[in-house]
Order: sequence, then structure tokens, then C-alpha cells
Amino acid sequence: MEKKVKQMLETRNVEVKYEKAVILHNVSIKVNERETVAVLGPNGAGKTTLLRAITGLAPASGEIIFNGENIINLSPHKIVEKGIVMCPEHRRLFRDMSVEDNLRLGAFLRKDGDGIESDLDFVFKLFPRLEERRDQIVKTMSGGEQQMVAIGRALMAKPKLLLLDEPSIGLAPIIIEAITDSIKRIKEIGTTILLVEQNVHMALDLADRIYILSRGRIEREGTKDELYDELEKAYLEA
Ligand SMILES: Nc1ncnc2c1ncn2[C@@H]1O[C@H](COP(=O)(O)OP(=O)(O)O)[C@@H](O)[C@H]1O
Ligand SMILES: [Mg+2]
Repeated sequence: MEKKVKQMLETRNVEVKYEKAVILHNVSIKVNERETVAVLGPNGAGKTTLLRAITGLAPASGEIIFNGENIINLSPHKIVEKGIVMCPEHRRLFRDMSVEDNLRLGAFLRKDGDGIESDLDFVFKLFPRLEERRDQIVKTMSGGEQQMVAIGRALMAKPKLLLLDEPSIGLAPIIIEAITDSIKRIKEIGTTILLVEQNVHMALDLADRIYILSRGRIEREGTKDELYDELEKAYLEA
């Protein structure tokens, strides 16, 4: 039997301008339910800006359709309530608070106490290191551990769509591997993921489909098999 594909997110000709500078030009991407999609692009390409448009943090024109509804320029708060949760670039944690407090703050909009506790268990199973260090103050932790807290905090909001902004940034290769494995497990429990990255290996490892963003425009789109050779030439041998 053919598997039915249901679309979750679609951006249609999304444009973002700051002053007169156009940062995103007609960006159109799609993310289907349970899919992991990567937007791959160099520094300054507009990856964070795209996530900020989707989460209502950057004023945008065009359409952003989430589960059939145009959410463009709704307030960030309303967009989180609909189930779009961002794990931001450079982690943005409450640095003077403990691991557990940071994680629990991710659930601040939820009222299902039992669900919160079972999701906290899931986060601790995913990152046993965080359970060992649940009382540690976040700013005293390594970059990799802080990235785990940031991803864990986003999960605590029970995302329908999880947006990950460069989870590999600033991390050693072995830590990137561990983070990649944990993202695979988040995918396995059925979470739909939109990942933006500069790290080609991570994108190829995780994504079902990849868009290449360059200077604010989508240049290419394809499955990882379709883009593999091209990406290998352009980036891996560079
Ligand atoms: N708030 C802002 N005001 C003006 N320009 C911005 C702002 N945020 C980002 N930019 C510019 O938009 C471009 C894309 O930035 P960004 O989305 O952060 O790229 P990426 O995340 O791919 O590195 C860059 O040229 C950056 O300087
Ligand atoms: Mg960025």
C-alpha cells in the first residue's frame, strides 16, 4: 500500500527585507509530516532569517502555510501554541539556571502535567548526561552539553514541527556525531524536523530532502541521493 504523504509546512514565495536589503527572495519550501528536511547554506545565506520568518520573529511577505492555515506574521506566541518550536542558534539558554529548570521552562505553555513528566523522562533517556547533571548551572557546561539542553528544552514544548538552527555550530566532530544520533531518535518518535545547517555531513546524514540556500535564494532541491554527488564535489572536497 502506498504511504499517504501529508504536508505540514509550506512557505510560498517568502520574502524578508531589513530596511531596503532583501534577505530572502521568494523562498518556497515544503516539509511533510514525519519528514526531516534540511536547508543547507553558508554563513549569511539567510537560514536563521527563514526560521525567524516561520516563527513570527521576522516580518515577512508571502505565505507560510502550517497544517492548512496561513500563519504568516502571527505573533511568535501564537505560532508556538500551534506547535512550531525553535531550538535557536547559539542555544539561547537561561545560563544562570539549572539544566532541569531550563528544560521545564520549555514546557511553560503546557497544562498536561503527566505529559510533561514523561517528556522529561524521554529527554533524560535521550541525553543521560543531562539527567546526571540536572542540577548543574548551564553556563558551567560544555558547548555540547548546552546544545543538548537547548534541544531538550525545545522537545519539552512538545513540538509538532521542530526547527533546529545549526545544532552543529562550534562543536567538535565527535560531539556533532552524538547530537546527530539524538536527532535521529527524535525523528524516530515521529517528530517532523526542519534543520538549517552549514554542515553538509550532518544534513546528508539526517535529512530526507535538502534545499540549498544561497544569498537568500533556494538554488537547488532534492533528495539526499539526488544531491549527494553534487554536494560532495562542492563542499566535501573543498
Ligand atoms: N536584524 C537584521 N537586520 C539587518 N540585517 C540582518 C538582520 N539579521 C540578519 N541580517 C542579514 O541577513 C543576512 C542573512 O542572515 P542570517 O539569516 O543570519 O544568515 P545565516 O543564518 O544563514 O547565517 C545576512 O547578510 C545578515 O547580515
Ligand atoms: Mg544563522
